[in-house]
Amino acid sequence: QPVVVDTVVALRAQIRDWRLHGLSVAMVPTMGALHDGHISLVRAALSTADRCIVSIFVNPAQFAPTEDLDKYPRQMARDLDRLAEAGAHLAFTPTVSEMYPTGFATKISVGGPSAGLESDFRPTFFQGVATVVAKLFLQALPDRAIFGEKDYQQLCVVRKLCRDLDLPVDIVGAPTVRDGHGLAMSSRNAYLGAAELGVARQLNVILRQAAAALAAGTDESSVTAKAAAALLEAGFDRVDYVAARESLTLAPWRRASDGRLLAAAWLGRTRLIDNVEVSSF
Ligand code: PAJ
Repeated sequence: QPVVVDTVVALRAQIRDWRLHGLSVAMVPTMGALHDGHISLVRAALSTADRCIVSIFVNPAQFAPTEDLDKYPRQMARDLDRLAEAGAHLAFTPTVSEMYPTGFATKISVGGPSAGLESDFRPTFFQGVATVVAKLFLQALPDRAIFGEKDYQQLCVVRKLCRDLDLPVDIVGAPTVRDGHGLAMSSRNAYLGAAELGVARQLNVILRQAAAALAAGTDESSVTAKAAAALLEAGFDRVDYVAARESLTLAPWRRASDGRLLAAAWLGRTRLIDNVEVSSF
C-alpha cells in the first residue's frame, strides 16, 4: 500500500525525507475513481522519477453549481488498491477544508490557452483547475507532474500556469488511454448505460475521420460542421463544440502547423470530451 497522508504538513514531511536521500519526485494529480488512464500516468511518473505521489481530491472549485460534484464517483479503498498495484509511493488525500480553509479567497486565472473551447461552456472551470494545481505544486514541489492528453486544453493551461508563474515543475503530457473501441477512459464513463456506451464509442471514430479529412486538405469549417452533424446522427444529444486548434498554443489552427481537433458532446446527462492530433503536411 502507498503511504496515505491527508495534510500538507504530513505530505511535506514525507517529501523532505525523500529529498534528504536525494530522491526525485513526480506527481500525478487526480480526482480519484482511478482507471487505466490514471494508472498509465503513474507508470509514466515511475519511469522518470524515484518516487510517485498521486493526489486524490475532488476539487469543488472546478465544478459549477449545476455540475456533478455530488455524484462524482468516490471509491477511495479501491483507488488505494490500484495505486498499490501500480507501485505509487504516496497518496495525498486532503479534505476540502485542508485545501480550502474557511476564508480562502485566492483564485488563479490563466489566460491564453484557456480561452474558448471548454471555457465557453464551463466559464470558471480552468480557474478552479489552475488554483488547485498551483496549490498542489506548491505543497509538494515535485520535480515533474504528469497530465493526460485526454484533457488536452487542461494540459495546455497547466503548462502556461507553470511558465507564467515560474513554478519549477516540469509538465509531461501522456497519451490518452482508450478501450478496445477507441473510447477514452474517463471516470464519467461510469454514468453511461450499455446503449449510451455504444454511442460514446463513436466520438473518437468521428474525430479521427474528421482529422484525416483536415489532413487531406478539406476546408476546416466544413469538416467541423460535418463532424458535429455526425455526432448527432450517431446518437449524441448535443454538441458543445468541434474545433481545430494549434496544438501548442490552442490558437486558431493554420494549415501549416501541427493541430489538434477537440470536441465535447452530451449523451443524456453525461458530457464527454475527446481530442486527436491533426498531422501537418
Ligand atoms: P481527473 O479527471 O481525475 O484526471 C486526472 C489526470 O488523468 C488528468 O491529467 C487527466 O488528463 C488524466 N486522464 C484522464 N483520463 C485519461 C485517459 N483516458 N488517458 C490518459 N490520461 C487520462 O483532470 C483532473 O482529474 C482534474 O482536473 C485535476 C487536474 C486533478 C485538478 O483537479
